[in-house]
Amino acid sequence: MNTDTGSLFLHPDRNLGMELVRATEAAAIRAVPFIGRGDKNAADGAAVDAMRKFLGTVNFDGVIVIGEGEKDKAPMLYNGEHVGNGNGPAADIAVDPIDGTSLTAAGRQNALSMIAVADRGSMYDPSAVFYMDKIVTGAEGHGVVDLRQPIAENIRALAKAKGKPIGDITVAVLDRPRHMQLIDDIHAAGAKTRLLLDGDVAGGINAALYGTRIDMCAGIGGTPEGIITACALKALGGFIQARLHPTTDEERQKAIDAGHELDRVLEANDLVTSDNTYFVATGVTDGQLVAGVKKLGPILRTESIVLRGRSGTIRRVEADHLQEKWL
Ligand code: FBP
Repeated sequence: MNTDTGSLFLHPDRNLGMELVRATEAAAIRAVPFIGRGDKNAADGAAVDAMRKFLGTVNFDGVIVIGEGEKDKAPMLYNGEHVGNGNGPAADIAVDPIDGTSLTAAGRQNALSMIAVADRGSMYDPSAVFYMDKIVTGAEGHGVVDLRQPIAENIRALAKAKGKPIGDITVAVLDRPRHMQLIDDIHAAGAKTRLLLDGDVAGGINAALYGTRIDMCAGIGGTPEGIITACALKALGGFIQARLHPTTDEERQKAIDAGHELDRVLEANDLVTSDNTYFVATGVTDGQLVAGVKKLGPILRTESIVLRGRSGTIRRVEADHLQEKWL
């Protein structure tokens, strides 16, 4: 066995993303019977089970840094669990079998199954604080956008850097009461909002991709989702800044005890120190990033995106699966 995991990760692992995509495809397909059935736990359970089985066959030695929770609450894909067949590179892995469990249960758009992988030890530990304040843009945001500035200033700076009128800038924001002021400020600056019911990873990736209708994703969302977004952005050259956002005194203290500086603005390289990242996602329901699983006669068609940080490559993968093998 080659114990030089550094060299293993450098060369033969171009295919890792293409192997991982089988796991998100499986999770998305298994979630299909639960779309629009009102039971988000059942949808998540089916996706978790399928993802875990497929991950077991992938050539890598993964440790889950961002998973379904602590072992006593999550019997599968728990934080600290080893996944993969143990034969390949040592890696950190973040799994979200369904980002948008409520969307799936309600039959709404934009639910995704996703995985991010990076060199072992390179992902930020998200366990102390549930939420982060985040701002994500494409490459044009570097050096001009800053989380410490008012949103209006960031909108103006990004519009200038992109050579667009402010009125053409669209900011994706999770539609939550906590964002009422932010939404008002975006409108007052002359920009547009795209309000998301859920799913700020897709919002962030869409902000960083060319050819989408979103220029920026801003506001408070999950810390794990911030790290997953950073892994994806490494392939896109995109810009992210984030700051922990504790919501209780207890959480604030927990973060301080864990050694976090609460006012520190974290950048992509703080959220994941390695550039050797993979991000894969398969659509569960239709979204702007990828389409959801479609039934076409005997076929189930999946659409996925595979991003590789080291090479800066974006691949779109469409796969047809014979339905009788699955459902
Ligand atoms: P899950 O479907 O995994 O629960 O997450 C959906 C999500 O919208 C994330 O994309 C986002 O970061 C987070 O929840 C926001 O949290 P909240 O719903 O508490 O505002």
